[in-house]
Amino acid sequence: MISKSLPLALLPLLPQVSAWGTLGHDTVAFIAQSFISNSTAAFAQGILNDTSSAFLANVATWADSYRYTTEGAFSAPLHYIDALDSPPESCNVDYDRDCPEEGCIVSAIANYTTRLQTTNLSATERQKALKWVIHFLGDIHQPLHVENLEIGGNGINVTFDGTATNLHHIWDSNMAEKLIGGYSLEDARTWAGELVQEIETGKWKNQSAGWLTGLDVRNGVDSAMVWATDANSYVCTTVIPQGEAGVEGKELDGAYYDAAIPVIQLQIAKAGYRLAAWLDAIVEAEKGVEHGHGGGGQKRKEFELEDWMVEARRVRRAFGWNCGAEGHRH
Ligand SMILES: *[C@@H]1O[C@H](CO)[C@@H](O)[C@H](O)[C@H]1NC(C)=O
Ligand SMILES: *[C@@H]1O[C@H](CO)[C@@H](O)[C@H](O)[C@H]1NC(C)=O
Ligand SMILES: *[C@@H]1O[C@H](CO)[C@@H](O)[C@H](O)[C@H]1NC(C)=O
Ligand SMILES: *[C@@H]1O[C@H](CO)[C@@H](O)[C@H](O)[C@H]1NC(C)=O
Ligand SMILES: *[C@@H]1O[C@H](CO)[C@@H](O)[C@H](O)[C@H]1NC(C)=O
Ligand SMILES: *[C@@H]1O[C@H](CO)[C@@H](O)[C@H](O)[C@H]1NC(C)=O
Ligand SMILES: [Zn+2]
Repeated sequence: MISKSLPLALLPLLPQVSAWGTLGHDTVAFIAQSFISNSTAAFAQGILNDTSSAFLANVATWADSYRYTTEGAFSAPLHYIDALDSPPESCNVDYDRDCPEEGCIVSAIANYTTRLQTTNLSATERQKALKWVIHFLGDIHQPLHVENLEIGGNGINVTFDGTATNLHHIWDSNMAEKLIGGYSLEDARTWAGELVQEIETGKWKNQSAGWLTGLDVRNGVDSAMVWATDANSYVCTTVIPQGEAGVEGKELDGAYYDAAIPVIQLQIAKAGYRLAAWLDAIVEAEKGVEHGHGGGGQKRKEFELEDWMVEARRVRRAFGWNCGAEGHRH
């Protein structure tokens, strides 16, 4: 979504679509909004200063605009993790191997979750932390945001419905937009309603509780690694099951699309459901601090922040991999 207040002259400088696309991110946000507790809703509405019916969706793509500003350029590498695995034979994510010193989506989820719980941050920084958490929990469910190969598929040319594009782009946007027939806020609200129904009473009723396995708000890195590993597995099974040669230069609107759509629906649903649980857990931890539960909650959090920062300083790359500035376009 592009803010109406931007001068028109700036519009061509902005990316045409954002990761998962506007439709994907807004849908994740609407799903989360329908599962969060009332106190989480109040918490988010307060931080975002938005009590509208789309308070999470309204900020879901902020991070994709911010990364293209001078101030926000540092955050561009935080939208993905370049898993150096070998699809389609072997899919895996390794935090030490794949998350560089500058950070990645896994370290960013941990950092901004901690910052969201750090009550003495400025209102602006806390609001940014929440907007990043909402966005990155979406991105981490897109299989090509957790894959290094060809810059997360950006370097694999394909066509979709006759349009020349790349593999990353069709996973972000084209396939979901074809399914839904648009990408407006209302399209997202409608799609979210359908997916919420599948979670509550439909085909995911039995498995949705399992989606929360490994979720521990005190350990952002391990939690985000569970989600990254889950999404990355689809690179081998669905994104490039026949390797690059199976998709390069091909029209993917047929059988490929048919196989991808169930994965896209599932990943959007999981992202929204997990985001709701994650935000609820953050707010529960907050309450612990306010009411003095849990043996000095504030002290415990400070320790965790320090602990996490030590962790973040570890040398993470197994070797001097660096894909260069143009390699960071997931
Ligand atoms: C949560 O808010 C909704 C809508 O404002 C209200 O109908 C519901 O009773 C609330 N639930 C609780 C547990 O307070
Ligand atoms: C909150 O939003 C309202 C308009 O919706 C605005 O008037 C007010 O200044 C905002 N408050 C803050 C603290 O940004
Ligand atoms: C956490 O986020 C803040 C604000 O964006 C940033 O300045 C800091 O370097 C980050 N810390 C880590 C360890 O990533
Ligand atoms: C917030 O609290 C931490 C830990 O007490 C402290 O190190 C930091 O300087 C504080 N930040 C601000 C902006 O007050
Ligand atoms: C992909 O397409 C771009 C232009 O859209 C072209 O520059 C590039 O060489 C193509 N890559 C391959 C591997 O064909
Ligand atoms: C869900 O689990 C229940 C009880 O184990 C079973 O009866 C039902 O068929 C399952 N539904 C689906 C859609 O798998
Ligand atoms: Zn993104």
